[in-house]
Amino acid sequence: MRTPLIAGNWKMNGSLALVEAFAEAFAEARLPADVEVALMLPFPYLGAGGAAFRGGPLALGAQTLSDQPSGAFTGEVSGAMLADLGARYVLVGHSERRTLFGEDDAAVRARVEAALEHGLAPVLCLGETLEEREAERTEAVVLGQLAAVFDALPPEQRQRLAIAYEPVWAIGTGRTASPEQAQAVHAAIRARLADYDAGLAEGMRLLYGGSMKADNAAELLAQSDIDGGLVGGASLKVDDFLAICQSAG
Ligand code: 13P
Repeated sequence: MRTPLIAGNWKMNGSLALVEAFAEAFAEARLPADVEVALMLPFPYLGAGGAAFRGGPLALGAQTLSDQPSGAFTGEVSGAMLADLGARYVLVGHSERRTLFGEDDAAVRARVEAALEHGLAPVLCLGETLEEREAERTEAVVLGQLAAVFDALPPEQRQRLAIAYEPVWAIGTGRTASPEQAQAVHAAIRARLADYDAGLAEGMRLLYGGSMKADNAAELLAQSDIDGGLVGGASLKVDDFLAICQSAG
């Protein structure tokens, strides 16, 4: 069976004090035994997170990485640097990266490859805009984003990813996809993965993201193809995030 993964994406929020507060609260919290929890921290807090989370239940993740291994790329951060700091996960292709920073499918693919090269587990983000949903293009868009990465990967590398379905219209809007809407897209993603390999489809963790909160998480996570959550706003409050993690057990 797939171990649920609840990942918090702090985006450009938080503080050193909040990193410490999460480390302390989670060290003492009673979490379900079969749930994995990660926090995708802003770059400057990764070092502190790596130290504070050691030995505790929180895994460390980053929000993006360079597609280059090293060199004259002012302001960029490489996969090797993230691995050095103890990161296990890295988000790739978040819709904010795609829309605000111009990352197209080729850029996303290159970052997935860079992450894999450094032993990181990429969490590949997929999602349609409201306009695309209303034009009934949701599956075409999401499965296109999926194929742009998975077609290019050697089969043995594909199983190292996790996938997050984040409808753009649900991110930060308080407008969550209904459990049925989310489940339908997750099922389509899993069916597409089965075209590559049945075992790949069975083992792949598919997270839902977009206004996941303590009061709607259980219903979303109960869907058969939803294996976790990628949580933005609600991952900045210890109690809210803990409640979501607890509802995944
Ligand atoms: P919200 O939970 O704030 O909607 O953000 C979702 C998200 O983008 C996580 O990556």
